[in-house]
Amino acid sequence: MKTNFALEEKFRAVGGKRTYVKGLFGRIAGVYDLMNRLMSLGLDIYWRKRAARYLALATGETGLDLGAGTADLSISVIHNSGPGTKMIGMDITPEMLAVGRKKLKRMGLEDRIDLRVGDAEHIDLPDNSVDGCCSAFTVRNLTNLHQGFSEMLRVVRPGSRVLCLEISHPPGKIFGGLFYLYFYKLAPLFGTIIGKAFEEYNYLPNSLTTFPKAPELKTIMEEAGLSNVHYYYLNGGIVAIHVGTKA
Ligand SMILES: C[S@@+](CC[C@H](N)C(=O)[O-])C[C@H]1O[C@@H](n2cnc3c(N)ncnc32)[C@H](O)[C@@H]1O
Repeated sequence: MKTNFALEEKFRAVGGKRTYVKGLFGRIAGVYDLMNRLMSLGLDIYWRKRAARYLALATGETGLDLGAGTADLSISVIHNSGPGTKMIGMDITPEMLAVGRKKLKRMGLEDRIDLRVGDAEHIDLPDNSVDGCCSAFTVRNLTNLHQGFSEMLRVVRPGSRVLCLEISHPPGKIFGGLFYLYFYKLAPLFGTIIGKAFEEYNYLPNSLTTFPKAPELKTIMEEAGLSNVHYYYLNGGIVAIHVGTKA
């Protein structure tokens, strides 16, 4: 895997990637949802909906959303699953969860989505305890991807799915070039001007430089022990959904 030395230096300066990421999302929690809608031109809602459908929780089942943030993926899973489905949303950043809790209260979903502080690389749940595990735009932020997927595999019941929605590397040359122009130049500019967060919205493209391409991520999930791993590109490969199963 590639190394981004400038970013590694920033992580070291604050005591590690986890601390850096937690601080960063803590600072942008208040503008996070608005910036997502603007920077993705509203597509992020559609991406989470597709992810929720691939997770396919059945009536009455309980899913886990890692890096739940402001709870948008958990909400999408609830809206796209049968009655009685519940979600546990875990995140290391309390400020993101606080925004999520207010949203759940407004939507009357507090009794179906339980938001908790927790680390995706050390999940505080017993083995085989949830019926599916998902994450959206989270695994790019993990210190050790293999450890993260091993933990997801551990906590899901046999036959259940582990799903990951992440920004990816569009395979097409022309579209890929346009995407990189937008993602590396324009998106950080929006973040700086509208979100008033230069450092934070420059982390976004930088965190992708070292992130594996979709076929490599599939291999990482397989090495962690997941079976039948498939990935699906959305919108020309701007994002990819990876889904694997616990045998
Ligand atoms: C880009 S946000 C995604 C939030 C949400 N999933 C969404 O779809 O909008 C990434 C989230 O992952 C969380 N995160 C990063 N590392 C984590 C870890 N090791 N364990 C749990 N959450 C983590 C961050 O605090 C942040 O809220």
